[in-house]
Amino acid sequence: MSKVTVIGAGNVGATVANVLAHKDIVNEIILLDIVGDMARGKALDSWQQAPIDGYSTRIIGTADYKDTNNSDIVVITAGLPRKPGMSRDDLITTNANIVNTVTKSILEHSENPVIIVVSNPLDVMTYAAHLTTGFDRTKVFGMAGILDTARYRAFLATALDVSPKEIQALLLGGHGDTMVPLPRYTTVAGIPVTELIEEQTLNQIVERTKVGGGELVKLMGTSAWYAPGAAAAQMVEAIVRDENRIFPCCVRLDGEYGVNNVYLGVPVVLGKGGIKKIIEIQLNESEKALMAESAGHVKAVMDVYDHLKK
Ligand code: NAI
Ligand code: 2OP
Repeated sequence: MSKVTVIGAGNVGATVANVLAHKDIVNEIILLDIVGDMARGKALDSWQQAPIDGYSTRIIGTADYKDTNNSDIVVITAGLPRKPGMSRDDLITTNANIVNTVTKSILEHSENPVIIVVSNPLDVMTYAAHLTTGFDRTKVFGMAGILDTARYRAFLATALDVSPKEIQALLLGGHGDTMVPLPRYTTVAGIPVTELIEEQTLNQIVERTKVGGGELVKLMGTSAWYAPGAAAAQMVEAIVRDENRIFPCCVRLDGEYGVNNVYLGVPVVLGKGGIKKIIEIQLNESEKALMAESAGHVKAVMDVYDHLKK
C-alpha cells in the first residue's frame, strides 16, 4: 500500500484526496497547504466521512513537509485558479513560483516519487516541475487529458442520451483552447461516433469541449474541481494498482508525433512507477496540423517560462 501526498488543499486538492480515499487503495494521504488549518480541517472532515462511506485510508492535513516523508506519489495542485476573463496562461508567473517552491520542498523529504502536476498553465507547470526535479519524463507528468476527454464524453452522452460509460474517446494536445479532440477515435460501445451523430452536432461538441474549462469559470467565478479532482485520483489509482491504463496525459515529447521537447497531451500507458509507454497513433493531415498548432502554442508559453527564469 502506498503513501500519497496532495499539495494544495483548495478545491481541486481536497477533491483529489477525498475521491482517492473513497477508492481505499492507499494507506495514507497527506494533504498539505500553505494554509495549514484549512488542510487540517478538510483532512479531518474527510476522515470523519470514512465511517459513513467505509474506507480505511487515513487523511492527514498539514503545512509541514516532514509529514510528506517517503511519499510514493505526489499530486501538485497548489496555485491560483483562473477567474473570469483570464486564460490559463495568465497564471504563469505566480504559479511557476509556487510549483517550483513546492517541488523543491517535496524532494527534501521523498527521494523518487512519481509527480502528477495539476496546476495551470498545466503543460508549462509540468515542464517547470520536470526542470526542478531533473527526473525522467516518465516520472513527472500532468493531468489534463482525462478531464478534457471526460468533458467531451459527457457532452456526447447528453447528445446521444446514453450512459457516459459507453463512450470511449481520445484527445491530444495542450490543455488549452488548442486541444485536439479526435472524433475519428471516438466510439460508443465500439460504434464509431460518426455513425450515431450529425456532423454539425459533433463539431459543436468538439468546440464546446475546447472551451469547457472556460464555460465553468464563467458559471462559478473560479475553475472546476469535481471532474479535475476525480481525474487526478484516477491517475493515482492506475499507478498504485499497476493497471496499465491508457490515458491522455501531459508528457514531454522527444520526437513522438514529430514534436521535440514540448510538453503535450498524448495517450500513455500508466502503471507502477509512472508512464510505461507513450503511444503514437496515426493522424491524418488535418489532425497533424491541429497537433502542430497546439504544440506551437505550448512551446510559446514554455519560452515565456524560460525567459522568466533568467
Ligand atoms: P484553489 O485556490 O481552490 O486552491 C489552491 C490552493 O493552493 C490554495 O488552498 C492555496 O492556499 C494553495 N497554495 C498556494 N500556494 C501554495 C504553496 N506555496 N504551498 C502549498 N499550497 C499552496 O484552486 P483550485 O481550484 O484547487 O485549483 C488549483 C490549481 O489547479 C489552479 O492552478 C488551477 O488552474 C489548476 N487546475 C488545473 C486543472 C487541470 O486540468 N490541469 C483543472 C482544474 C484546476
Ligand atoms: C479546467 O480545465 C481550469 O484547467 C482547468 O477546468
